[in-house]
Amino acid sequence: MTGMVTNMIKGIIFDLDGVLVSTDELHYQAWKKLAMDLGIMGFTKEDNARQKGVSRMDSLEIVLEKGNKRYSDEEKLTFADQKNNFYIELLQRLTDDAVLAGVKETLIMLRKKGLLIGIGSVSKNTPLILEKTGLKSYIDQISCGLDISKSKPDPEVFLVAAKKLGLLPVQCLVIEDSKAGIIAAKAANMRSLGVGPEYEQLGADYKYKNLQCEIDWDSILNS
Ligand code: G6P
Ligand code: MG
Repeated sequence: MTGMVTNMIKGIIFDLDGVLVSTDELHYQAWKKLAMDLGIMGFTKEDNARQKGVSRMDSLEIVLEKGNKRYSDEEKLTFADQKNNFYIELLQRLTDDAVLAGVKETLIMLRKKGLLIGIGSVSKNTPLILEKTGLKSYIDQISCGLDISKSKPDPEVFLVAAKKLGLLPVQCLVIEDSKAGIIAAKAANMRSLGVGPEYEQLGADYKYKNLQCEIDWDSILNS
């Protein structure tokens, strides 16, 4: 009986890009621009899909492997900065229009049920995005790229989120749109719900196209 009570879900940890906000599209635009500036023409949306949940430097490698030049570590840092500067420029225009359908309603409903809300995102731009979109006031704790040293699929970002929420990993449900994120959730010993264009292929415990779907929260939360 005691075991059942401790294992009940008490907190929901949301990934940010592609789960709460449509910034994944802006990441794509910024990487595409960098690719073009470097004369790399073959960088596509499919390559971009592999960048989801992946750190900035690892995402850069996915762009560079489409070209045929080798670069020094110093040059790579410069390229990552260039991409981020362009991305931040795009983020300046972000408003609550970028909040994905069903997100606010879901956050309000979960809070009403007494659940804690956390963010688990590798992005170092998380604070700026939450500020610009007005989502900050719906969130209890943020764990992001600024808090961690290992990117997803490492579980670090989710373990930090659980700790900040004052919960055990088994008391948390992760909501993700990336494979790396679902692997990270499993490695953290957390249950997972997959959303987004690839929701059926992510390997999540629960699968829904997006947060606008009729999600059977009661059965998920009482499982
Ligand atoms: C998220 C996105 C990735 C991005 C990473 C780092 O995980 O899904 O595509 O590369 O954050 O984001 P940043 O804003 O710090 O470059
Ligand atoms: Mg994501």
